[in-house]
Amino acid sequence: DWTTANFIEETVAEIKEKVGDKKVICGLSGGVDSSVAAALVNKAIGKQLTCIFVDHGLLRKNEAAEVKETFGQEFDMNLVAVEAQDRFLSKLEGVADPEEKRKVIGNEFIRVFEEEALKVGNTKYLVQGTIYSDVIESGGSDSASTIKSHHNVGGLPEDMEFKLIEPLRELFKDEVREVGEELGLPEEIVWRQPFPGPGLGIRVLREITPEKVEILKEADAIFREEVKKAGMSREIWQYFAVLPPMRSVGVMGDERTYSYTIGLRAVKSKDAMTADWARIPHDVLEKISTAITNEVPQVNRVVYDITSKPPATIEWE
Ligand code: XMP
Repeated sequence: DWTTANFIEETVAEIKEKVGDKKVICGLSGGVDSSVAAALVNKAIGKQLTCIFVDHGLLRKNEAAEVKETFGQEFDMNLVAVEAQDRFLSKLEGVADPEEKRKVIGNEFIRVFEEEALKVGNTKYLVQGTIYSDVIESGGSDSASTIKSHHNVGGLPEDMEFKLIEPLRELFKDEVREVGEELGLPEEIVWRQPFPGPGLGIRVLREITPEKVEILKEADAIFREEVKKAGMSREIWQYFAVLPPMRSVGVMGDERTYSYTIGLRAVKSKDAMTADWARIPHDVLEKISTAITNEVPQVNRVVYDITSKPPATIEWE
């Protein structure tokens, strides 16, 4: 019968058998699925695996450092961390439409990944963190498959001719987390909330600038920290900050200010198809608001999103 230990043992044996002495690459996003897939394949074939982590500059605060620490240091994997921040930001200059932003980020991601994959050379297999719900979702031609294509490095050119290794194809999310825990991945990675492939690129609303990305990163980190401290992180499906493209009037000492607003979004959900806004207690919200306006000088107003999905979506773009 199914236990995580049996699953790991059998899957490791299968991967070893399949790969032989060939090389394997894996696109590592730091998300739960790709992280667990990478750790599993690493257990099977160690240094025959190279993970490619693309830092597009739109990750949350400390995320890149955590991924490098966990996989490069603790797990001692072959990890190529590509610093592609400038590349992405310059491609995004002047782009304001949400779908256009997704396209730009997705295309650039594939281009960077492709270049790095060619450098690794002589690879036959590509690891993907596809899980059971992705298999079901990509049955249709709806937006779910488009969404996943960003995540899972779809659209690689045919002349690369990779065969796929998808060790989590038959697992549900909670089983993936169990496997991750059993493999010794840190709690911050195993219990990470879903994070969109385009990252903060669709949470800085409209046009993205480096300054706005920094403001959002700081505010988002404070929000996440406070939710964790309040012990609510596991019951909330996703919680994050957004930066609307507007300023409003405020006051600081004797001075009038004209600064940014931060929107806070926190929802409960089972599968992201529908979602209910999370009833975070007012005193927790107050702490968050005070911390953000104290610590992020460019922000003078904090609002909490009290819409469910539908009619709103989880993300604002
Ligand atoms: P919405 O905003 O449509 O989001 O309610 C549903 C879920 O999908 C995530 N999401 C994305 N994930 N690329 C992704 O990989 C995207 O472009 C994207 N857009 C939304 C969102 O975070 C939520 O979990």
